[in-house]
Amino acid sequence: MNYRHIYHAGNFADVFKHAILLAALDHLRSKDKPFFVLDTHAGTGLYPLDAPQARKTAESAGGIEKIVAAMPRSDILRSYREHVLAMPGNEESLRVYPGSPSLIRARLRPDDRAVFNERHPEDFETLRAGFARDRRVRVESRDGYGCVRAFLPPPQRRGLVLIDPPFEIPDEFSRMVRALGEGLKRFSTGTYLLWHPVKSPAAIRDFHSALSALPLPETLSVTFFLRPPDDPKAFNGTGLVIVNPPWTLAESLKDFLPELVAFLAPETGRWSVERLGGALS
Ligand SMILES: C[S@@+](CC[C@H](N)C(=O)[O-])C[C@H]1O[C@@H](n2cnc3c(N)ncnc32)[C@H](O)[C@@H]1O
Repeated sequence: MNYRHIYHAGNFADVFKHAILLAALDHLRSKDKPFFVLDTHAGTGLYPLDAPQARKTAESAGGIEKIVAAMPRSDILRSYREHVLAMPGNEESLRVYPGSPSLIRARLRPDDRAVFNERHPEDFETLRAGFARDRRVRVESRDGYGCVRAFLPPPQRRGLVLIDPPFEIPDEFSRMVRALGEGLKRFSTGTYLLWHPVKSPAAIRDFHSALSALPLPETLSVTFFLRPPDDPKAFNGTGLVIVNPPWTLAESLKDFLPELVAFLAPETGRWSVERLGGALS
């Protein structure tokens, strides 16, 4: 396990993923009934942007720093920007970047619950130190995909599962497909967010066709390209497959994604939203 998210915190892919994650959490909060969130590959939860590892790659310069400097108008991007700037430590300037556990915790109400799981021993300790005292949260150190069996279905019967692996191993796409299949058998009404990088378009096509072989409920594939994917080895863009998306999301993405392109990749960027499963509503 070589991957450490601190090298990438706040990059373009985090902006894309976290803005959509917050929109999905807001939808869950719009009803009174408690919800559950499972973050299978959680990272440490909070990243100091002045840490040597973050400064070494400076990836936040192409992501959150551009959003902070901008004046977004779409609901999704405005709300995300406000959340990041509201993190303790960011009162005067952008000093810390919240990972998915921080963003999720900020949206939990007293009766909502979450499991944050991280396998890397050091990052797990940081995660535990930051979150284990919150009685709404359980922090685990298992294999992320095993969490699908261990924690689904949740007693609340409503909630969201974020599957955000590091893509260090060649069969990560097939593992995600298997985990989603397992998850849907246990918790068919849950919202699932499956994050992936976009390098080779062929790998994404294979991923989508493997997903389409599952009994998928309504599912969106949302992609943000930094540049045309001409070099299949480059990190050309990022995507989320969203199973059981909140019903207003597809519409709000149409305001969010063009803004994201305008702020992060105005010359070469583009976006797409495709339906992979379920009936059109
Ligand atoms: C992309 S990062 C997660 C970022 C985080 N979800 C966020 O949005 O802030 C992927 C994480 O998965 C962890 N990881 C790697 N292999 C794992 C496994 N088998 N099970 C659980 N976590 C794993 C890595 O240590 C890394 O922290």
